[in-house]
Amino acid sequence: MSTELKRALYNISALADLGQEITAGGSNFQEKIQAVLYVITGTFLTNKGAILACNKDGQMHILAQRGFDQLDPGRAAEEIKALARNEPCLLPAAFGADAGVAIGAGILTPLWVRDEFAGMVLLGEKFTADPYTAEDFELLRIIAAQIAVALNNHSLFRDLSAQLDENRRLYEEMRRIYHDTLQAFAAAIDAKDAYTKHHSQRVAKYSVAIARELGWNDHDIEGIYVAGYLHDVGKLVISNDLLNKKKPFTPEEVDQIKTHSTLSHTIISKINFPWKDVGKMIRHHHERLDGSGYPDALTHEDLNDGVRILTLADAFDAMTSRRAYRDKMDIQDALSELKNCLDTQFDNRILLAFCRVLDKEIKGELPEPDILPHFDRDSDLSVIAALLEGIIRELSS
Ligand SMILES: [Fe+2]
Repeated sequence: MSTELKRALYNISALADLGQEITAGGSNFQEKIQAVLYVITGTFLTNKGAILACNKDGQMHILAQRGFDQLDPGRAAEEIKALARNEPCLLPAAFGADAGVAIGAGILTPLWVRDEFAGMVLLGEKFTADPYTAEDFELLRIIAAQIAVALNNHSLFRDLSAQLDENRRLYEEMRRIYHDTLQAFAAAIDAKDAYTKHHSQRVAKYSVAIARELGWNDHDIEGIYVAGYLHDVGKLVISNDLLNKKKPFTPEEVDQIKTHSTLSHTIISKINFPWKDVGKMIRHHHERLDGSGYPDALTHEDLNDGVRILTLADAFDAMTSRRAYRDKMDIQDALSELKNCLDTQFDNRILLAFCRVLDKEIKGELPEPDILPHFDRDSDLSVIAALLEGIIRELSS
């Protein structure tokens, strides 16, 4: 085999290696460029080589280099840009000397992608002292084109990643403001009634715990979280005196208080939420399966799981909180009451999910309990756990 043929075969295999190296995903870009440089310097029989990229601000920086002692071509960028695009050219030994960065005799290829100056490939003289041939120039032109595209893609990818990071940061910021606003709103609702402090927050947390136990997706869980926080927003337009009345309500007063769910619905219907059922959940959080609830006296098939969850969470928190007109129930009594009202007021599956999640929280099986932190410290958890196990067994059968 002739030397030329051997050389040609070597060059083809080097090109194949290079193509694979440049297009392979996953590895670190810097390492990839370093490997590419080793392939190129080996191919062209030189100890010196460098691949440089040009920043958006026009500054050159070294991505990989070997053999050059004091390479600082950032200062020679304008000279390099003036050379023919993507064309390898021989450099005189004094190239860059005016800028104090003489790099010696060798071959340089300015890399351009469309009208973007991407960087350059620099090779020193051959260690065989042979001159670069026309075939070397041709091969380097092909290699340089691949590197130029790789540099350009990397730069685009980096810009895109930076943009994505910025978008993510803005989204998180908006999300935080949104949640703060939601909580501030809920605090304003709960502050109307001295006995319902944190009620909206607890209803939101209990509802989320049940929905998660039922396998809801994150999007829908966020929807019921919002519904929990805002379900009583209509109370903002009901008088404080009425909400805090210590004597029993008159029938007219009861009717007036009952308007809060339609008022809540009217208020939130002005907001274009990304969850379609928030309005329904809020309007119907006092409906009952047997049709004796309000405001629309809906029954079983009209009440979706979201409404059923919110209804149970709201009732459980109301029962276990002190109100102006009554003391609070203990947890066991509240659970028994929920069970007694199955089919008329509450749904079996929802109560089962609630009991299961509470049971898991008591047994420490969940990383962050949502319901347990709101129980009195002196609650007898072993008694509650035994009751829960009984209800779970009964409802599971
Ligand atoms: Fe309510």
